[in-house]
Amino acid sequence: MKAVNIHTLNGYKARGEKFPVITAYDSAFARQVELAEIDVALVGDSLGNVVLGYKSTVPVSMSDMVHHTAAVARGNSKSLVVADLPFMSYSTENDTLSNSARLMQAGAHMVKLEGGAWLTESIYKLAQRGIPVCGHLGLTPQSVNKLGGYKVQGRDDAAAQEILQDALSLQEAGADLLVLECVPTDLGARITKELAIPVIGIGAGPETDAQVLVIYDMLGFSPRIPKFTRNFLAETNSIEKALANYAAAVRSGEFPAPEHCFD
Ligand code: KIV
Repeated sequence: MKAVNIHTLNGYKARGEKFPVITAYDSAFARQVELAEIDVALVGDSLGNVVLGYKSTVPVSMSDMVHHTAAVARGNSKSLVVADLPFMSYSTENDTLSNSARLMQAGAHMVKLEGGAWLTESIYKLAQRGIPVCGHLGLTPQSVNKLGGYKVQGRDDAAAQEILQDALSLQEAGADLLVLECVPTDLGARITKELAIPVIGIGAGPETDAQVLVIYDMLGFSPRIPKFTRNFLAETNSIEKALANYAAAVRSGEFPAPEHCFD
């Protein structure tokens, strides 16, 4: 695999080719992600749940994210490394800029943040300063306490319209990618069609431009496996093969199947 950059991902979208994304938190798994030719390694703040043993992503700190982003960047020189800005690290524009700089200097190629139109000024400022941005809409786990649980979002017309408008605002502000989490399949398809930037789905149906899974979920290591995940390790006896099978299943459109999606 040649080193992946935002032009690679835009090319996939233009050609209608789906691409795989997966989380990684350390150098050993990051290397496996590169060997499986997975285009994007996301240093997600799901780190808090699946590696650090927290009940949510809320306790994850900037130091945690910098530490794990640097480890992933050391283990993988081909995938695009996207790092999450953790809870409350982007609540002001100045914090957004300085904390994004820390993640980029640790080895990220792009930062990800959760939320809608309120983030447009920050995204504009990051883009102006040469920092690529991935938005995150739908189920935004850092807001679990406000959302009242990990629930499918955008099921009624007003909520669906709000997510679509937020997606357009983030794109207009300069976002390069969008993660869409736990929304009905038809909303995932509609947003993907309306946006020029690639949309990465997780529980957002088969029509998004890319799919992302939490690596420990798709290897069956997590205590609770969400509906939108498939255990790829159960189908083989090697982590290397499980990752390669995931990449192939996303590229062919075989994953996600109807049982991984929401109406
Ligand atoms: O933190 C994370 O792993 C994420 C993915 C679930 C998209 O944001």
